[in-house]
Amino acid sequence: MLGKLFNTLVALYIFKVRIAFCLYHNHDLNIYSELLINDSNKANTYHKHLLKEQHNQDEYNNYFEKLCPKPEDIAPCLCVLDTEHSELNLDCRAVVDITQLQNVFQAEFPETSFNRLDMSRSSITVLPSGVFGNITFKHMDFLISSLEVVEDGAFGGSVETLKDLSFQYCNITQFPFESIKNFKVIESIWLRGNKYSAIPSFESDTLKWMTLGSPYLTEIPEFLPNTLPALEDLQFNDSPITNIVPGHFKNLHGLQSLSFRWLQLSGVLTANSFVWDEGQVVTWIDLFHNNYYKIEPGAIQFTEGMYVDIRFNLMDTLEEEVWRPLLELNGTLEVQGLDINCDCGIAWIVTNPQFLEYTVDAFCADGTSFFDLDPKDYIDC
Ligand SMILES: *[C@@H]1O[C@H](CO)[C@@H](O)[C@H](O)[C@H]1NC(C)=O
Ligand SMILES: *[C@@H]1O[C@H](CO)[C@@H](O)[C@H](O)[C@H]1NC(C)=O
Ligand SMILES: *[C@@H]1O[C@H](CO)[C@@H](O)[C@H](O)[C@H]1NC(C)=O
Ligand SMILES: *[C@@H]1O[C@H](CO)[C@@H](O)[C@H](O)[C@H]1NC(C)=O
Repeated sequence: MLGKLFNTLVALYIFKVRIAFCLYHNHDLNIYSELLINDSNKANTYHKHLLKEQHNQDEYNNYFEKLCPKPEDIAPCLCVLDTEHSELNLDCRAVVDITQLQNVFQAEFPETSFNRLDMSRSSITVLPSGVFGNITFKHMDFLISSLEVVEDGAFGGSVETLKDLSFQYCNITQFPFESIKNFKVIESIWLRGNKYSAIPSFESDTLKWMTLGSPYLTEIPEFLPNTLPALEDLQFNDSPITNIVPGHFKNLHGLQSLSFRWLQLSGVLTANSFVWDEGQVVTWIDLFHNNYYKIEPGAIQFTEGMYVDIRFNLMDTLEEEVWRPLLELNGTLEVQGLDINCDCGIAWIVTNPQFLEYTVDAFCADGTSFFDLDPKDYIDC
């Protein structure tokens, strides 16, 4: 009985939504259905936005006119009034070149404080200095755009407002790293998957999260004392970096997590590579997919509960001298993709249930899981 009622209600709801949609422009529907495929979160917001628009059309129009430029003045960008969050966003994904972008920002903007600029997948290649005039943003998204050059000064007045810069998987060869220090409230900069060949030292009092990576990047930038006090999470991805200079990260006093995925770190990770200054508490080291065949004792200064990922490297054993200190601090060691020689060298793990549990995804070269080894076979080791 209840089930039937429920079904009826759902059917009514769907009917209502359909009716509502019939009233929308085809253009809205197309965007909505594309968003459903590309990004369900955005689709949800868009859907709410459309429903709101439907219910409060007059009110919405009133605000839209007060806050947004004339639609024809900023085409192909769209000014999007998010009534749910009381935010203005600018969707410029359709912009193809600089001239178009420059024209957009010569329009008259009744309100100049915007929340998000979305230029993801846009085919623009240069972001020129001053292009945004006096329009400011808190978030800029250029994900998978064709950007190659980001000029110094491109962010204009947004240096006061930007919290988040998403420039991943573009073709950026030139980025104003030295100007990061001017951003007053920046928290995250996502720059992996680009094409710069070097990164100068840079500074920020507020930056917390950063990803870097380029097929031409062979050196980790130098981090000078007291330049990045808030940086917690630093990631390098897909770059031909071959070496970690011992003690390189000592100046990053807020650091918690370091990640080096798909680099070309090779050979031996020598003693004192990852050592910390007093007060520095790093709890995450990720060396996923590199070419280390040996990690020396003391290479990583372990901390309580530390997570260390050495998956898909070239070691064939887990020496007690190297890893026991980590497991005794209740740390976790991820070892998937190592063909481990299951001789007496691993007896210390196999005969200790806690160590066995925290050595994750451990397999012998013949494919046997560590959990299927019989501890009795290791008693005489
Ligand atoms: C969805 O993604 C495709 C390509 O992946 C893109 O061409 C299209 O513009 C996107 N649509 C929306 C509404 O984001
Ligand atoms: C933004 O610039 C335009 C034109 O340069 C000017 O008319 C407007 O007053 C400026 N707005 C603000 C808030 O500074
Ligand atoms: C980056 O450049 C390459 C080579 O010119 C091109 O094939 C690729 O589409 C560009 N990437 C983007 C996101 O535009
Ligand atoms: C490790 O965990 C055990 C059990 O939860 C606890 O008794 C011990 O104090 C922990 N050791 C360290 C070094 O945190």
